[in-house]
Amino acid sequence: MKITVIQFSPVFGDSEKNIARLKPLLEKAKDAGLIVLPELANSGYNFKDKNEAFRLSEDPENSVFAEFLTSFCIQNNSTVVTGFNERADPKIYNSALLIDRTGIIGKYRKIHLFMNEKECFEPGNLMPRPFDVDGVKIGMLVCFDWMFPEIYRTLSLQGTDVICQPSNLVLPGKAQKAIPVHAMINRVFVVLANRTGTERNLIFTGNSLIAGPNGEIIAQASSKGEEVLMVDVEISVSKNKMITQNNHAFDDRRPEFYF
Ligand code: ACM
Repeated sequence: MKITVIQFSPVFGDSEKNIARLKPLLEKAKDAGLIVLPELANSGYNFKDKNEAFRLSEDPENSVFAEFLTSFCIQNNSTVVTGFNERADPKIYNSALLIDRTGIIGKYRKIHLFMNEKECFEPGNLMPRPFDVDGVKIGMLVCFDWMFPEIYRTLSLQGTDVICQPSNLVLPGKAQKAIPVHAMINRVFVVLANRTGTERNLIFTGNSLIAGPNGEIIAQASSKGEEVLMVDVEISVSKNKMITQNNHAFDDRRPEFYF
């Protein structure tokens, strides 16, 4: 399966401009089966307050941004995961959408909100779960979820092959260190699609990456600038949870000793 990360710098508060910015980048990713975009790719990130975040949110079922990605998927037989400022009146969520040629087929709402996000968004209320796309089980997380190993385990125990993680990271180097480890201890692929650029007082750290089930970094982008990372991976590797001939990543767990 060809997996692509589009690392770019969304324009704050302008969904139409973000579509225009994504068009040439998606053009380069036309061959990919699965494309992952950063967190809040429709709206930008650093809202001054809840009203501003709400004004820039969109109902996914009535969103030009989501429609644009659906038509890309129809034309190219692709699947896209995008971060999305989701309006579910009267609430808003920091969400990830899974889109294919039939439209939106999966949704995740960020469970672990970071800093000022707590003043803008409702915490996620959907159980993390994989969605089946042509036999590949795709799960979604968003950015600061990287701090919580439990959530990678929850997805992996449900048979997830690839965890797609739209992000707007600001703490240099931390998630990029953790994510290959989450991939390794669950023996899954993790696709971290981070953004670059600045918004108000925040600098985003780039270095998007695709990590494999052995903890290897298969590809990584630079810290600055727009980049399209594309790799071809053998997804079935994620189905093999053996660590040695006597050790299985899940069957060797002793949950009676853990919180
Ligand atoms: C983050 O969760 N956007 C750092």
